[in-house]
Amino acid sequence: PISPMAIAFDAERLTLSPEGPTLTRRMSDLEGLFRDSDAWAAESAGENPVVYTVTSSPVPEIDRELPQSITTIMPGDTSGELWMTKGHQHPNHQGEIYLALQGTGGLLMFDGERTEWIDMQPGTIGYIPPGWAHRSVNTGDEPYSFLAVYPGGAGHDYGWVLEHGMGSRAYRTAGGVELRPYSE
Ligand code: PA5
Ligand code: NI
Repeated sequence: PISPMAIAFDAERLTLSPEGPTLTRRMSDLEGLFRDSDAWAAESAGENPVVYTVTSSPVPEIDRELPQSITTIMPGDTSGELWMTKGHQHPNHQGEIYLALQGTGGLLMFDGERTEWIDMQPGTIGYIPPGWAHRSVNTGDEPYSFLAVYPGGAGHDYGWVLEHGMGSRAYRTAGGVELRPYSE
């Protein structure tokens, strides 16, 4: 266990200090997730843009600890499907909390049968109940950032999403977002 500590959060630069590891996910890291796999392959082989980053707190990802991270998803879409995180299930089905910080997005959740969508804008707290796989989507034209607080032992099961999907996909429309069945 680590000692009590203050973590400085810079609300403009969206940094945590002290800071843990930062993860960068490029298009090529999102294999098998976008509906249009040809467009995904072309973008991966081409510019291979950064789709999102995840900056962690110094709190370790071990059982009973409560780490945090800030995810920033770039604006964009691949054949209309909005840029998003890979999405995952927590193997032990623990819950999680997201707080939207900047930009606009959505929190897509799937329990294997039901799909839920929460519109996320700065100040929105999105609650992920135990057993719901979760994926974040940038629905706007600027980067979308949110803070996550999660049980340190929660883990990330990405294979679950490859196997079961997320129930729906989020597409860009003139008026905003449209959710369509996963296979469309
Ligand atoms: O703990 C979480 O759910 C988040 O911090 C995510 O890990 C983060 O948003 C990145 O998404 P993913 O892990 O699905 O790539
Ligand atoms: Ni999670």
